[in-house]
Order: sequence, then structure tokens, then C-alpha cells
Amino acid sequence: RSVLCVVGARPNFMKIGPVIAALTARGMTAPLVHTGQHYDETMNERFFVDLALPRPDVNLEVGSGSHAVQTAEIMRRFEPVLDRYAPDAVLVVGDVNSTIACALVAVKKGVRVIHVEAGLRSRDRTMPEEINRLLTDQISDLLFTTEREAADNLIREGIPPERIAFVGNVMIDTLLAQRRRAVPAAATLAGHGVGAPHALVTLHRPSNVDDPATLAALAGALAEMAGLLPVVFPVHPRTRARLDAAGLTERLSAAGLVLLPPQGYLEMLGLMAEARLVVTDSGGIQEETTALGVPCLTARDNTERPITLTQGTNTLVGADPAAILAACREVLATGGKAGRQPELWDGKAGERIAALLAERL
Ligand code: UD1
Repeated sequence: RSVLCVVGARPNFMKIGPVIAALTARGMTAPLVHTGQHYDETMNERFFVDLALPRPDVNLEVGSGSHAVQTAEIMRRFEPVLDRYAPDAVLVVGDVNSTIACALVAVKKGVRVIHVEAGLRSRDRTMPEEINRLLTDQISDLLFTTEREAADNLIREGIPPERIAFVGNVMIDTLLAQRRRAVPAAATLAGHGVGAPHALVTLHRPSNVDDPATLAALAGALAEMAGLLPVVFPVHPRTRARLDAAGLTERLSAAGLVLLPPQGYLEMLGLMAEARLVVTDSGGIQEETTALGVPCLTARDNTERPITLTQGTNTLVGADPAAILAACREVLATGGKAGRQPELWDGKAGERIAALLAERL
């Protein structure tokens, strides 16, 4: 049996390794298609090296574009690849444009679609990822979830319960497997003149970085935060462009923030694990900080990952600078939320997926 696996963007890379390893351990073939949605060395190649991922069998090299252009180009280029491999199923992960594009090509060709990380909902349809999640789940034959409540979302949307399986979190499989290889924060920060304990910041959501007024307000909060403890900020290419355009890069540097290029997986793991707190708008980092037991302040009004709030270390603080600073002070004073490990975030999600696919394909 063969399962054609798809990745495209940075948050996909840490999810696919455990799945491919578990499928091949059970004698299935799992060729890997990379759409090329992310292509920079720091956003792409680095992760294949850090995570020792198999080289993609095919790279569609689509690159950046508007949502329509990027999604359409992935579809055009994926179709002949799907014909050539003629797999028993196509497996997609997460919620990026590559996820919906390849799922849509497969379903219309009568090839079964498997969605890993199904059923997460922010209920915010202005997020491109929310549209990708809703549509991918509607056309998937098998839906693997990371938290129990995700099944309720799917059932409410009319997905037959027998298609859904709660298997745990493959991204946490990777985190647990790599934890001991993390690069110490001191090594990453050497030469930057700051030491632990630090705050780690990541921001890249269009809702936070594309509007200059919102971005300036967030930058103001970060500048003030840098007066409380060292602040380390690996900057996504989208955010870098917006900060430069708004003249905010110098302001942040002048306030003492350490602005870094996007970091590799093992550097990021070290920076997260040793942080006093994390401020982010990423989906994955909300989960990784919960797994690591590090307090996370999420600069959004909603999250598709509610278990990180109810059981984990996450708190929603929105994009209001005063709220972010108040939450930051509170964590510094109290230590923040301790949290506990969510159910089945135990390093075995990939194996559960492979076991179910061995039965059902
Ligand atoms: C994508 C995902 C998002 C995910 C994020 C993680 C969608 C809809 N969004 O957003 O869910 O959280 O990846 O990074 O799929 N760029 C580079 N080099 C690269 C890639 C992008 O410079 O390797 C720049 C380009 O200017 C591009 C911009 O970043 O226009 C945005 O890239 P894109 O892939 O469109 O979306 P992300 O914002 O990265």
C-alpha cells in the first residue's frame, strides 16, 4: 500500500516525519511531495536537515503568490504527480494552502484523502487557515485529531463519526524525539549580549503584521517588555518586510530586542524550552509551549487549539499592548500557568495513525 504524503510550509515539516517513519515501519510506501510553498533555506531546507526528514521525491517549486495563485499553481502541478504515483491515499497535514490544494486534487480524482490535525476550529473565517481547515475536513475520508473536542466540531459539520479517530499530536511526537538535541539558548544567543531568562516572541499572522497600526502597537508593547527582561524575536520573512516598511526594525533594536532570522528547529526548541515566557500568534507554538510547560501568551482573540488553554500553559491576550504587558508582568510575578500534558500527547501519534491506516486502507 502507498500513501502519498504532502508538505509545503514550515509548520508541516515537524508533523510529517513521525508519520512517514511509522508507515514505512509497517511496510507501506510513503513517497513525499513538497509543494515548495516555503523555499528559503531558513524556512525550508534547514528543517529537513534538523529533523533528518527524507528528501522529497518531488518538489513542485510553487513559491509565493496570492492565495488564489499559490493554491491554483499547487493544484496544477500536483495533478500529474498524483497520476504518476497512483497511491492508495493522499495524506495532508495542518492547515496551509498546500493542505487544501492537494486534498482537493485528490478527492476529485477519487483518491482517498487523509487529514492529520483535523477538526481544529478558531471560528474566525478571516483566517486563511480556518478556510483551509473547514474545506479539507469536508473532503477527507479519514480525519485524525489531536484533541478530543475536535471530533465535536467535525460531527457538527456533518462528518460521519466513523471517519474520525483521536490519535494525539504528531508535532509533539517530533518534539519529544528531538528534545535532547535542542541547541542551548546560550549558544543561539552568544554574541547578542543577553542571557537567560528571556522572553521569546514570534509574530507572523496577517491580522497582526499586515496592518501598520496594529504592528506599531505590538512593537510598542515589545519595546516596553524589553525593559522587563531580555526579549528574543526570530522574525518571519513576512514580518521582516512589514517591520522594515514601517521603520520599526530600528525602534525594536534600539529598545534592546534581539531580532534574529528565522531559526532552525533545534535552535527554536532550545529558545522555547528555556524561555521564561513566550509571546506568539503561531498555532504550533501554542502546542509546543504546552508540551514544554512554558507559559505562552497568544496575541490573538481566539485559538483553534482550546486544549492549550484548558489544560496547557496558554493564555489568550489579543493584540492590545496594555493586555500583553499586564499578562507578561503577571507571569513574571507568579510564574504563570503550569498546565499539564494533554491526553495522547505522548510521542506515539504517528504509530497510531499507521496502525489505523494498515487496517483501513
Ligand atoms: C504560511 C501559512 C501559515 C503558517 C505560516 C508559517 C497559509 C495560508 N499560511 O503563511 O498558516 O502559519 O506559513 O510560516 O498557507 N516568504 C519568504 N520565504 C519563504 C516563504 C515565504 O520570503 O520561504 C515570504 C514571501 O514574501 C511570501 C510571504 O513570506 O509572500 C508569505 O508566505 P506564504 O507562504 O504566502 O504565507 P505565510 O505567511 O508564510
